[in-house]
Amino acid sequence: MAKATVSYVCSACGAAYTKWAGKCDACGAWNSIAEEAALSAGPKPTARGRTIPLTDLATEEAPPPRAQSGIGELDRVLGGGLVPASAILVGGDPGIGKSTLLLQAAASFARKGLKCLYISGEEAAAQVRMRAQRLGLQQAPVGLGAETNLRDILTTLDTERPALAIIDSIQTMWLDNVESAPGSVSQVRAAAHELVNFAKRRGTAVVIVGHVTKEGAIAGPRVLEHMVDTVLYFEGERGHQFRILRAVKNRFGPADEIGVFEMAGDGLTEVLNPSALFLSDREAATPGSAVFAGIEGTRPVLTEIQALVAPSNLGTPRRTVVGLDSGRLSTILAVLEARCGIPFAGLDVFLNVAGGMRVTEPAADMAVAAALLSAREDVAIPPDMVLFGEISLSGALRPVGQTENRLKEAAKLGFSQATLPARSKSGQAEGMRLREMADLTALVGEMFGAG
Ligand code: TYD
Ligand code: MG
Repeated sequence: MAKATVSYVCSACGAAYTKWAGKCDACGAWNSIAEEAALSAGPKPTARGRTIPLTDLATEEAPPPRAQSGIGELDRVLGGGLVPASAILVGGDPGIGKSTLLLQAAASFARKGLKCLYISGEEAAAQVRMRAQRLGLQQAPVGLGAETNLRDILTTLDTERPALAIIDSIQTMWLDNVESAPGSVSQVRAAAHELVNFAKRRGTAVVIVGHVTKEGAIAGPRVLEHMVDTVLYFEGERGHQFRILRAVKNRFGPADEIGVFEMAGDGLTEVLNPSALFLSDREAATPGSAVFAGIEGTRPVLTEIQALVAPSNLGTPRRTVVGLDSGRLSTILAVLEARCGIPFAGLDVFLNVAGGMRVTEPAADMAVAAALLSAREDVAIPPDMVLFGEISLSGALRPVGQTENRLKEAAKLGFSQATLPARSKSGQAEGMRLREMADLTALVGEMFGAG
């Protein structure tokens, strides 16, 4: 029999190596390669397998029965409720509120009659009970365990057969047949594998909590995301009370759906109208502020984009972005310079999405450009105006999806004009004055009289 060999695996992309290296050739990440003990050899690959039964695509499948927690923002992000036998990964920075959210979720599900277990590997039972007390949940019928030995946890789950099990967190769990420390690539991967298997075998919905590294990936291999059915990220700025639960992958519902919460002294409360919240502290007509009518998942959300442009005394001017991709900002600055003749060289640029929101839609381009121009020219954008549209490298404005929904939400919140790309399918936009523009030059000329 071949000797069990040690291999080295990249924790970012999962590429395997026979020797350790400082840099992963496959994905270019540094210091991501860690030693991993090879799994047991198992049956010989030449052994004959059994024939698997095949079906067709037409057979009618009943939609999975879902359990609602009653926390609307959570249920929507899950795609309409919790699906039995599903594996859900909840990622987020330490201290962002994952444990709080999941304890509240467990209590809500338990009160709806689901059998729920909450297993904490990070806190002692007394600590979790104290948190429950603070949240006013001490009467909820949730089974509580404080353990890190996954073998014991699986045995307990097997006898208890809960409908929902929450494992907080995967980085603290360890399996006795894997020879490395908890939190290492092999432990995290093996533990997640066991939990996902258990979910499928026993019909229990398993929620796995995972901490996120500085770079924003769930610590441990990317493969963790492939193993589970649903990946949710819980995000927000530490200084802000808003928290956003975002579905980045969902086999049972739309991805990119968000739920908005507010962290208060007594836990997380739902925010039912996020647009009003993200715009709430907006002052009237300030240069550098533009309101973007965006779509998050299935829901329109209005956010304020703020820009500040100031003379720089650095050789390479500063480009600071919060809540938006910095590459996108560079592109927009380059298009403004090359196509409209508006240079930003020698100017520091600061860009910020208000309220701790993160915007990923290309439709935000036009609001970003408008905020930048408004800050540079010191001309305020009318406070009752929303903007949306994608900017192409040629400087043309491209229509984006769901124009009608964006306009409706803006009208609902008291906005009365919208700047959008020409040829947008705007449909019926009652009470909204539409300013359609074909390219960025038109926006520059009409709104700022520059260029
Ligand atoms: P926690 O759920 O422990 O975060 P995670 O599990 O993601 O590491 O959240 C801890 C933070 O939330 C902590 O800084 C205190 C704050 N918090 C409140 O503001 N209100 C509350 O009711 C609770 C329970 C926590
Ligand atoms: Mg926690």
